[in-house]
This record gives sequence, structure tokens and C-alpha cells, in this order.
Amino acid sequence: MAKKDFNDRTLSLGLARVSEHAAIASAEWIGRGDEKAADQAAVNAMREQLNKLDIKGVVVIGEGERDEAPMLYIGEEVGSGTGPEVDIALDPLEGTTLTAKDMPNALTVIAMGPRGSMLHAPDVYMEKLAIGPGFPENIVSLDQTPGERVRLLAAAKQCTTKDITVCVLDRPRHEAMIQELRDTGAAIRLITDGDVAGIIHCAEADKTGIDMYMGLGGAPEGVLAAAALKCMGGQMWGRLTFRNDDEKGRAAKAGITDLDRIYSRDDMVTADVIFAATGVTDGSILPGIVREPTHLTTETILMRSKTGSVRRMSYRNPRH
Ligand code: FBP
Repeated sequence: MAKKDFNDRTLSLGLARVSEHAAIASAEWIGRGDEKAADQAAVNAMREQLNKLDIKGVVVIGEGERDEAPMLYIGEEVGSGTGPEVDIALDPLEGTTLTAKDMPNALTVIAMGPRGSMLHAPDVYMEKLAIGPGFPENIVSLDQTPGERVRLLAAAKQCTTKDITVCVLDRPRHEAMIQELRDTGAAIRLITDGDVAGIIHCAEADKTGIDMYMGLGGAPEGVLAAAALKCMGGQMWGRLTFRNDDEKGRAAKAGITDLDRIYSRDDMVTADVIFAATGVTDGSILPGIVREPTHLTTETILMRSKTGSVRRMSYRNPRH
């Protein structure tokens, strides 16, 4: 049972600091070609800041299983140990390759909710579909073909299929889907990495130009994206996909028995959550870190699903 004392209003500002510090730590690794070092710097900083918060936190979406990740692993207890019992989903650096190559849309991401509020997604792929707010419930679904989704969304938006832009991860596994999307006349925004940002883009379609997201990406990133859309509005669905028995074993370990289940946004995130993300490299949702000789400046988006509030915070900090 979720504890009642999850004071998301007070905790949210603390969460923004956690996200900011992870971004700042990764700043020196932007464009240096070293994904691992960039990720490690963000992980260390995020963990250090999380442990300053007055929470009894457990990482439910993290850097991996305990034997794979020494820090911020799934099940790690974080926080000072006093305060509300919360679950935490995080990705200290979403887009490690984007950061290493100084390409757009790398973010630090973290979401917090009461205990039991977020799906313990195993580290497997998830088939994802997302659209922004303002459409009837379930107008598109994972059971439809990519072409049908475009046609239905265009009809709901009262535009032609040519006016729809779909964001897709540029991977060989998506070749057939991309062809089918192209056959409808829809435009495709191909991204090389970072599908949390890809999905968030749907929530601000007027600004980003992206109407729909679809394709296979990491399941943990799926839960993070669902938390963001729960705050910003928008619909999302996810279905886990398994390539072998080891991956099925990961699901079993996470307590998942129905391997074919389609999760809606609110199945993945079942209670009100708070969500923070800080831009590392420039993107359509958040600007990247600005590096001056003496200072670093970050921008963080901080959101609460309970109120639907979206706060943007700029943080200029002397370089150490
Ligand atoms: P990392 O930040 O861990 O490198 O992940 C980036 C990412 O692009 C995610 O956004 C996405 O869900 C996943 O990797 C896709 O996985 P793959 O690279 O195996 O297609």
C-alpha cells in the first residue's frame, strides 16, 4: 500500500537538484567520445544527491541488476532513510552516445512516486507507442499496423497523413515499419538514441513537430517516458518483447507473469509521480548545458502529475 505521506510538493525541488547535478557532472564529457565515463560521472552525482534527500527510497528502474551495476542498481536503497517510502525510476544519462558524440537530446531523467507506483520493467525491449494530449482515449493502439495508426491520428487531428510526423529510433529492426509509415505519406523524424526524449516530444507537438512515437526501445526507458507523459498529458502503451529465455527470466524476477500484456501509461505508472529532466545536449524540449569558462548553466523541467504543473528552472553554477 502506498504511504499517504508522499509530499511531492516539497520533494520535487529536491528531485530537480538531483537531476541538475547529474547533468553538471556529465558536462565535461560532452563530445569526448567516452560514453562510459560520461555515464559514470552522472551516476555518481545522481547517487550522491539522492542520498541527501529525506526519503526511504528504492531504485525500481536503475542502472541494471545488482550484479551488473555497482551503483543505482535495481533494488538499491537510496535517501537518508528518514521520510516517505518512495520508488525511484532513473536514468542518470539518457543518451550516453549522444553525449559522447555531442548530438542533440541527451538528458538526465528521474521520477519518484509512492512505493509500488511504477512498473518494475526488466531490462528488455519494449514496443512503444505514444501520442500527445487532446485526443480521444485509445484512438491508436499497439494492435494496429503503423499505417492504420497514422491514418487514425490524422483523422482525429483533422489533417492529412502528410501532416503527421512520427518519431522512430533509427535501427535496422525498424526498416519494415519505416517503409510502411513512408507509404502513408507521413514524415519520420529518425533519432539515433534517446527515446525518452522522443516520447516526451509528443506531449508538445506544436513545439517539437512530433505527433507520434513508435518502435522498440528499452523497457526501463518506457516507464520513465510514461511518468513524463502522466505529468504532461498524452497517451502511451508498451508491450515487453523477449528475445530469449534469459530475458524472460528477467521478467519473472521482476514479478511479471503475463508476458504479452499491453501496458497503458497508467498501468506503468499507477499513482501520482514527480518527474525531473535536465538537458545535457541541446534538444527540442530542453536546451543543453551552457559551458562558460567560469560557470555552467543547466535547464531543468520539473513536473507533478497530481497538478499537471510544469516548472522550468535555470541553474547557473560556478565551475569547480
Ligand atoms: P543509453 O543512454 O543507455 O545509451 O540508451 C539510449 C537508448 O537510445 C534509449 O533511449 C533506448 O530506449 C535504447 O537505447 C535503445 O536500445 P538499442 O540501442 O539497443 O536499440
